[in-house]
Amino acid sequence: MDYNELEEIKKSASKEIQEISDANSLELLRIKYLGRKGKLTEILRSLKDLPDDQKREIGSQANKLKKELDNLLMQKLQDFKNYKPKSSFDVSIPGKKIPLGHLHPLTKTEQKIQSIFTSMGFSIVSGPEIENDYYNFDALNIPPNHPARDAWNTFWIKRDTNIQMYTNDANRKNDQRLLLRTHTSPVQIRYMEAHHPPFQIIVPGRVFRYEATDASHEINFHQVEGLMVGKDVSLANFKFIVEEFFKKLFGSSVKNRIQFRFRPSYFPFVEPGVEVDILLKNKWLEVIGAGMVHPRVFEAAHYNPREWQGFAFGLGLERIAMIEYNIPDIRLFYSSDLRFIRQF
Ligand code: DAH
Repeated sequence: MDYNELEEIKKSASKEIQEISDANSLELLRIKYLGRKGKLTEILRSLKDLPDDQKREIGSQANKLKKELDNLLMQKLQDFKNYKPKSSFDVSIPGKKIPLGHLHPLTKTEQKIQSIFTSMGFSIVSGPEIENDYYNFDALNIPPNHPARDAWNTFWIKRDTNIQMYTNDANRKNDQRLLLRTHTSPVQIRYMEAHHPPFQIIVPGRVFRYEATDASHEINFHQVEGLMVGKDVSLANFKFIVEEFFKKLFGSSVKNRIQFRFRPSYFPFVEPGVEVDILLKNKWLEVIGAGMVHPRVFEAAHYNPREWQGFAFGLGLERIAMIEYNIPDIRLFYSSDLRFIRQF
């Protein structure tokens, strides 16, 4: 028994501890040196047979080594506990695709309509969905108790509902019955009250009707209103704009030239009033209501009807999208059926 033996043990034990790669082997190593029959344990046990002076010196060296090995083993064990795989992440594996949403077909159609009209110099304008009697009806030449009101089945809003209207006319605001706008036409009045002609605008927006639903009727749908006012705007201008619009809208998908039909019609806010049909796949489809702005409408907006004239039109956004995408039922748009939505 001498220092060399201890030195030997120290060398081999520290080397082996360093090379260990799992906790089990580490325990085996501990047993090998420090277990009951371990190499160092044997030495410590045999100390008692040594002469006193050696006993003291080798004994203290051996105890020192025991402490060192204990520390090394502890440290190593701690390393295993703290160990986190450096990288379980394989950068070469293709990433998982996050499913991306896309625009609703109605949004797509609306955006397309907007871009066609802006390309023809129209501005895009909006107005409130909660309207009052005045803007939705009276100002559009539909007085109270007039039978024309029956054409717009209306959702009325209880008076005590605390809803702020945005209008610059405080008195009018307060004594009017509120409703969900039945069409986008009231924005004609709101816009004219706040702007000077000439101008040309479209107003895309949500409208509401108190009606039974079926394949072509919804209580909530969208319209695009149009209004062009100037010194000498005529129905011929409207004819050009509307034909240009539909050619651009359906142009690429309809090979043969679209045919148009202008039929006389009645809307209280225009005179004369027209409805436009287009011939698509051998079927005449009614696509737009329009006419020359009625003098009473100009008067309501404080325009002089002898000075200004213009045309107005209104089209149903759902109807256009149904034609464009071949959708058979208007109720599909808000059905939340993903099988429907994912087709677009
Ligand atoms: N507001 C009408 C409706 O909801 C549509 C319409 C017709 C608008 C003729 C117009 C127009 O501006 O001139 O049925």
